[in-house]
Amino acid sequence: MNQIAFNNWMASTQIRIEASLARHLPIADSIPARLHEAMRYATLGGGKRIRPLLTCAAGELTGAQPDMLDSVACAVEMIHTYSLVHDDLPCMDNDALRRGRPTCHIEFDEATALLVGDSLQTQAFEILANPTLGQPANQLEMITLLAHASGSYGMAGGQAIDLASVGKALNQPELELMHALKTGALIRAAVLLGALAGQPLTPDERKNLDRFAKRAGLLFQVIDDILDCTASTATLGKTAGKDEATDKPTYVSLLGLDAARRYADDLRSEALAALSPFGERASRLTQLADFICHRQF
Ligand code: IPE
Ligand code: IPE
Ligand code: MG
Ligand code: MG
Ligand code: MG
Repeated sequence: MNQIAFNNWMASTQIRIEASLARHLPIADSIPARLHEAMRYATLGGGKRIRPLLTCAAGELTGAQPDMLDSVACAVEMIHTYSLVHDDLPCMDNDALRRGRPTCHIEFDEATALLVGDSLQTQAFEILANPTLGQPANQLEMITLLAHASGSYGMAGGQAIDLASVGKALNQPELELMHALKTGALIRAAVLLGALAGQPLTPDERKNLDRFAKRAGLLFQVIDDILDCTASTATLGKTAGKDEATDKPTYVSLLGLDAARRYADDLRSEALAALSPFGERASRLTQLADFICHRQF
């Protein structure tokens, strides 16, 4: 697939996901209106929607229905948005800018931001549990996978390690574990849930897709670390230079910028190698891995 076709697919999928999120979120003036307004503020009108794109691309690989993929993608993006809202709170990274706008707790207040995260998280599971979504056994597998990826053995656990690691020099396996959990787990879930929405994969195919998802997830956070110290606040839409200023262990602090970039290239190659048995069927996932590796924000 050429780059123009891929860019068009990305743009149209982002628009579809935006509309689907807007439909799934509570309407802004329903009670409690302030909480619902804040949920919409945090979720809509920003973000690259990388996880939904991965869900849709993996679902296309297994022949999933677009409607089902949109719902699954929304569930994953709601968990991701909740993680950002909490990540920005003063008790975590204490950030005032997200997706080019004031963070949720700055625009609203801390308690509302906490509740936005709680509510987005539970709504994600409500979407996956909807009786019209698919087959119950399949839905149960998705719910279990997403719950595990979000909780203490996944994203939340990685965030705990992140907070406990400030000012510490982690070695590479320790840093890899932290990144694999805080960011990798949800990206892996985005891919696997998308695939689960379609026809079953063979055990070998599933193993290869999982290998891709793990490498792409780690790659995503290595690039996030690199961009934090190379891109501007205006480009990122979030405060640049935060990791060094707050003494967070990152791939850049561990390896230096050049070696971190080389590591990112290696991860990209490993991710692509895992997709090669799928051939053309995986062309969108391949291009998404390139996008993750070469993104500017
Ligand atoms: C930022 O994620 C937080 C990380 C997990 C590194 P994204 O870079 O996907 O943020 P948005 O959704 O595009 O704003
Ligand atoms: C955030 O990592 C990971 C999660 C939100 C789970 P970062 O703290 O590096 O993300 P940014 O840089 O604030 O987006
Ligand atoms: Mg953080
Ligand atoms: Mg942060
Ligand atoms: Mg970061």
